[in-house]
Amino acid sequence: MDIVVVSNRVARLDAEEPMTGGLAAALLPVVRDSGAIWVGSSGRTRDTSVKEPLLEVAALGKGALATVDLPAAHYRGYYEGFSNSALWPALHSRADLVRVEPEDYAAYREVNAYMARALMRFCRNEATMIWVQDYHFLPLGAELRRLGVTQPIGFFLHTPLPGRDMLAAVPHHRELIEAMLAYDLIGFQTVDGQRNFADYLRRELGLTVRGAIVRSRHGETRLGTFPIGIDTALFAERATKAAARPEVSRLRSSLQGAKLVVGVDRIDYSKGLANRLRGFAALLEAQPSFRRAVTLLQVAVPSRSDIPTYRALEHEVATLVGNINGRFGEPDWTPVRYLNKGFSQTTLAGFYRTAGVGLVTPLNDGMNLVAKEYVAAQNPFDPGVLILSEFAGAARELEAALLVNPHDTAAIARALAQALGMSQQERCERWETNMKVLRASPVQLWFSDFVRTLDDQASMALPVVAE
Ligand code: G6P
Repeated sequence: MDIVVVSNRVARLDAEEPMTGGLAAALLPVVRDSGAIWVGSSGRTRDTSVKEPLLEVAALGKGALATVDLPAAHYRGYYEGFSNSALWPALHSRADLVRVEPEDYAAYREVNAYMARALMRFCRNEATMIWVQDYHFLPLGAELRRLGVTQPIGFFLHTPLPGRDMLAAVPHHRELIEAMLAYDLIGFQTVDGQRNFADYLRRELGLTVRGAIVRSRHGETRLGTFPIGIDTALFAERATKAAARPEVSRLRSSLQGAKLVVGVDRIDYSKGLANRLRGFAALLEAQPSFRRAVTLLQVAVPSRSDIPTYRALEHEVATLVGNINGRFGEPDWTPVRYLNKGFSQTTLAGFYRTAGVGLVTPLNDGMNLVAKEYVAAQNPFDPGVLILSEFAGAARELEAALLVNPHDTAAIARALAQALGMSQQERCERWETNMKVLRASPVQLWFSDFVRTLDDQASMALPVVAE
């Protein structure tokens, strides 16, 4: 069966490697090796008077990467507007940040319809399945059905899926969730996401969900939980290699014996950057012996900067870093090294291996692959300690991490002190436990499990009724 994977953002072929984690970096190794066709936005826009989507196709491993210019007139409303100012905050339980301009929803629907037309080029073959990724394309399956596509179509949500009241903050939530039932299979990162979705279908749409199956006017849809993993072996190999990179060896020697704590995130309010910094400051405040003895390297990649909330956050985090460095710093020691740029996956792997503590404190996160990458990058004989928010999907799997509530500043400070003083034996035991989980569930397995379940579901389900 041929597989067409669709996501808004795709890996860039001109970059040596993806610059940070997230969906595009996670998908790259599996798409490359599976022979799938990966379709997504080119990052450029085009005049809407051109009705027919223009695709640019390039080879990608055994498969291909096809990018499409999205319509200029609708792009902002689709990406900055509905996707990232309505859906993203609601999905991350920030209803207070939901903002929608009147034309945003229409733009979102237009871009979904446009992407469906672009995908038709790959739907001529009966033996093709389509796998849609993430919240940018909730109604894409319904648009494809409208165009007569009868092949299996699956959907995977990389973010959390919150409870009914939070979803209801999104204008048009009923229409959107109802449209999602055109998919044969809908996958979530955690059982909570799946449970919340089933609960929404019952309470809001009055549907019956039996086991993991729901029947609607679109036919039958299966719900499932598929926690995404990383290419564990590849990442561990990168980390070993990375030690030789000049930026990694320079980092190591610059520490002058201090221990390194590392954080790597997009600048996003879901990532708990301010909470993390406050936790680090609380450690320096409560236990002065850690001053000079520890340094926090925070890589914070600017993200979605055209949205005012994100720009305000960039400012807030920079101010906080300045305050901490001003207050605790010494002429020869900077508590927080703050970098607003991305690094290649190999360099990041080197940073992770150099750091005795990985500090990952999202307030809400679908999975969080940085947590998994940090573990995979460790030296097995002298591994670092992962401190992980209990609100990341990864906390369900990486149970041997030090789990913290990121709203509890004192708890972050305590976890840091515990991690920095942990015996080698305990570090090794915790690391081995987490590493077993990562070895057993690499991204390759996530991909093949979803594809197999979609194939099974589509072959068992009753025929889909076109609208
Ligand atoms: C999250 C989303 C992805 C998105 C990524 C980066 O991981 O789930 O869909 O691609 O953030 O955000 P961006 O807006 O830069 O694509």
